[in-house]
Amino acid sequence: MKNKLLVWDLPVRLFHWSLVTSLFAAWYTSDGERNLIDWHLKIGYFILGLIIFRIIWGIFGTRYAKFAQFIPNKKSLLYYLKNFKQEKNYTTVGHNPLGGLMVVFMLTSVLSQAVSGLFMNDDIFTSGPYYSSASSSIQSIMSLIHHNVFDIIIAVSVLHIAAAFYYLLVKKANLIVPMITGYKQSDGTENTKGIKSSRLFLALVIILGVAVFLYWLLVLNVPVEEEFYY
Ligand code: HEM
Ligand code: HEM
Repeated sequence: MKNKLLVWDLPVRLFHWSLVTSLFAAWYTSDGERNLIDWHLKIGYFILGLIIFRIIWGIFGTRYAKFAQFIPNKKSLLYYLKNFKQEKNYTTVGHNPLGGLMVVFMLTSVLSQAVSGLFMNDDIFTSGPYYSSASSSIQSIMSLIHHNVFDIIIAVSVLHIAAAFYYLLVKKANLIVPMITGYKQSDGTENTKGIKSSRLFLALVIILGVAVFLYWLLVLNVPVEEEFYY
């Protein structure tokens, strides 16, 4: 018998769709010709906050949001790949092993894009808060990362969206609606426990902590730039 399980808590769903929207906005505002670079920085800080939140949520959050639940080991990954074709209609309750790996990769690449942004400079008026305090070799490494990792993010996102549609159209498993509603249908064949709540109070406490950290990182800790008058 099929039953409905709450799998993705509200913070994971909000994180997901905010990340999608803000990555698009970061790309749009990064083009110097649009004159939106101030917005680009703000959106970049927001994305940094999103990723830090998700990492903490991956440790303390609800069952299927936890890294321990979805980072695969070699055995589960090989088993999944070996049985991939046979498993029509089959979905894991949380992320499947391959999807779990992809999530880790996406979080890491977006984090490195956001962190490298802190050391960026657009050769006109705008710099990230740590640009002037970094050595020139750090500046060029960060610039190399910032100019190239976004292409990797695009490639992985395309693969990720293609995988979601492959599941929908070929394997007849809709993973997209659950990322909106939070609920998945379970066929009762595996460990089918849903989560009881989204733990919103804990999420709020973490969001507050992340905001305080960002205030320290982007305001209090920023080295004061020396100004020279001639
Ligand atoms: C910029 C584009 C995107 C990025 C960077 C992205 C990133 C992610 C991340 C990080 C997760 C893991 C969520 C978590 O555990 O917190 C995820 C899951 C998911 N995303 Fe996306 N996403 C993107 C676009 C989309 C789009 C457009 C769709 C729908 C067509 C989609 C469908 C899903 C689904 C269904 C899951 C859950 C997969 C599962 O059931 O294991 N994503 N995505
Ligand atoms: C995950 C968040 C971010 C994304 C997705 C992102 C994306 C991008 C992209 C696609 C470009 C254009 C690169 C190119 O033309 O090759 C760019 C440029 C730039 N980004 Fe970001 N960025 C993010 C965060 C940040 C942050 C936090 C800062 C600063 C605090 C920043 C500062 C800049 C600057 C100054 C440029 C202009 C570089 C130039 O003109 O050479 N970015 N960003």
